[in-house]
Amino acid sequence: MKTLVVYSTATGNTRKVAEAIAAALPGAELHDVKTAPAPDAYDFVAMGFWVDKGGPNKEAADYMKTIRGKKVFTFFTLGANPDSMHARTCAEAAPKAYGEGTEQVAAFWCQGAIAPNLIEWMRKMPAGNPHAPTPEAEARWAEAAKHPDETDLQHAAQAAAEALAKAQA
Ligand SMILES: Cc1cc2nc3c(=O)[nH]c(=O)nc-3n(C[C@H](O)[C@H](O)[C@H](O)COP(=O)(O)O)c2cc1C
Repeated sequence: MKTLVVYSTATGNTRKVAEAIAAALPGAELHDVKTAPAPDAYDFVAMGFWVDKGGPNKEAADYMKTIRGKKVFTFFTLGANPDSMHARTCAEAAPKAYGEGTEQVAAFWCQGAIAPNLIEWMRKMPAGNPHAPTPEAEARWAEAAKHPDETDLQHAAQAAAEALAKAQA
């Protein structure tokens, strides 16, 4: 299987996950979406994005549309709790972002540190605003700051290797 790993990242979290995944997939080529080749010549694509306003960030979404008729593994990082409804909604949106005939074999996601300027912006939100700095939100941001960690990277690598094996079966 000719394998391509493509990722989009603003602050580096999704790149770390992409690097762990590429290391686990024999012969995989790793590319930032900004300079990635067209997916047509590959049999299997591992596609990574960061969550922006509840879905794949635009740069990743534009590339995902160009992946047609392939087997793919999706991975993403987000600021929210990975077990939250929000994370689940993001995971459900991912397979729909691909081009025609593409089948998502499996997906992996984990939390990723939130950019400090975004946290500063949220801390200025008035009480009642969904982004306001409640104690729960502060705890979530502090937890996000620890990710992706070694365990996340191991889980990502394992999930991607299993997805490739499934795609080859
Ligand atoms: C403009 C912006 C919008 C974001 N929107 C969301 C969001 O809707 N939901 C979420 O859980 N995280 C959101 N995040 C957090 C990022 O998805 C998270 O920090 C991610 O790990 C960033 O990945 P990167 O380092 O690869 O860019 C947002 C971050 C930014 C900067």
